[in-house]
Amino acid sequence: MSKNPSSISVSSYAKVNLFLDVRGRRPDGYHEILTLMHEISLHDRLTFTAIPRGIRLQCDSPEVPCDSSNLAWRAAGLLKRRSPGHGGVHIRIEKRIPPGGGLGGGSSNAAATLRGLNRLWGLGLRREELEALAARIGSDVPFFVRGRAAVCRGRGEIVQPVRLEERYYYVLVLPGFPVSTPDVYANLRMTLTSPKGSARLQHGVMVMGETNARKGAIMPYNRLESSAFRLYPVLRRLKKEVLAVCPQGALLSGSGSSLFGICRTRREAWGAREKLSRRLKAKLMVVQGRP
Ligand code: C5P
Repeated sequence: MSKNPSSISVSSYAKVNLFLDVRGRRPDGYHEILTLMHEISLHDRLTFTAIPRGIRLQCDSPEVPCDSSNLAWRAAGLLKRRSPGHGGVHIRIEKRIPPGGGLGGGSSNAAATLRGLNRLWGLGLRREELEALAARIGSDVPFFVRGRAAVCRGRGEIVQPVRLEERYYYVLVLPGFPVSTPDVYANLRMTLTSPKGSARLQHGVMVMGETNARKGAIMPYNRLESSAFRLYPVLRRLKKEVLAVCPQGALLSGSGSSLFGICRTRREAWGAREKLSRRLKAKLMVVQGRP
């Protein structure tokens, strides 16, 4: 009798980018980035059930494709080809992370699938092997294999975990429309100057070989904002509103459309949410950065 379980459920967390600098265009068409990603408490739930053959996907959100274009499907396909002979899988996704919001939902689902199927099929793949497979699915997927907080470089696939010394709470603003990441990158106007925070993050987290992103090492910044704001001017107006109630900082997450305000305490975050709810129609959420 097989020792492997017949069904497994895993949480698949969203992320925000506390810092994102684009350093240049690469010959492969991607961009060289330096980013600090932080997982947040908002999550999807994925359930993997062993079936005799094939990959079947089911999702409770009509916005999510249930075919091979879904990154979770791609992750399952990749693992099946890498380790044949383990039967098939039915994947059920309970969706809470809005698609196209810059919160990494699809990438996180792909990483959760790699982790879940590694257990369901008893493959015994090491984290490094899962990260290498993850990089073939998408630039953000390797981050989600380990999750929590990490500085990511290259096109995003070179992941160095960090421990954030402060607690973070975020007010999420979900404008309700998706943004195309390729469009935001394509519309970027590159300048040669790097923001001050870039050097500080490099120095504090990488050059010094420190594992802690110390107080003051993180300066909220996202180079994709100017491009996204040109394409979707409403996002610029929303950022101003969030900054007015979250003086510590407000940013677009990744390529958007979600924005977030940075808060030190849960109370502060709920206060900011309350003020925003009187002024905005967008969906609002208070989430905690995963410690
Ligand atoms: O890797 P992923 O498929 O998530 O990337 C989606 C798109 O975002 C890419 O096709 C590319 O247009 C853009 N991108 C980029 N540079 C990165 C990451 C993404 O240009 N570092």
